[in-house]
Amino acid sequence: MENEATLILIKPDGLKKSLTGNILTRLSETKLEIVASKMVRVSRELAAVHYQHLADKPFFEDVLKYLMGEFHDRRKVMALVYWGEGASVKCRSLAGSTNPEEADPVSIRGSYGRITTRGVYENVIHVSAHAQDAEREIKLWFDPDEIIVNLFPTRTVVETKEKRAWL
Ligand code: PPS
Repeated sequence: MENEATLILIKPDGLKKSLTGNILTRLSETKLEIVASKMVRVSRELAAVHYQHLADKPFFEDVLKYLMGEFHDRRKVMALVYWGEGASVKCRSLAGSTNPEEADPVSIRGSYGRITTRGVYENVIHVSAHAQDAEREIKLWFDPDEIIVNLFPTRTVVETKEKRAWL
């Protein structure tokens, strides 16, 4: 297996249920390297691009609201990039099936996920499906300078955007 990166999102239910430590401990079994991590306030735009392949599904609006934290009263997600051999396959195996009711009961989603009465999978974490999806997703969630290895080719841009600085 080749070295590759995968995007992990600890979703709002995972944060609200204080599962961050458990999830990171489980994922450490992969022996992969964490090369980026941050807390993100998820905008509707980010959620919609992340889940763009689901735009015609009946649950699309609900998955956006879920990722934005609207069902859990906390608008944040923890985003991480794991890097190493077979990263997506290894993390997806520990995560379990997308549908938490079908997931192996000892997997992360099997242990902590649920399907809501609205029919939305609250499956605690997102893991990229494969390296190609991971590249698209990582580029959405992270800037190159937020990742401590050079995963993908970059270019230099000059920005004159206003930003906050420490007093
Ligand atoms: S596809 O097109 O079905 O293969 O989509 P997939 O890549 O598996 O992603 C589906 C994401 O939507 C979330 N979700 C649901 N999927 C199916 N049915 C229902 N009811 C549903 N509710 C939410 C699912 O959790 C996948 O998101 P991630 O973040 O990958 O878990």
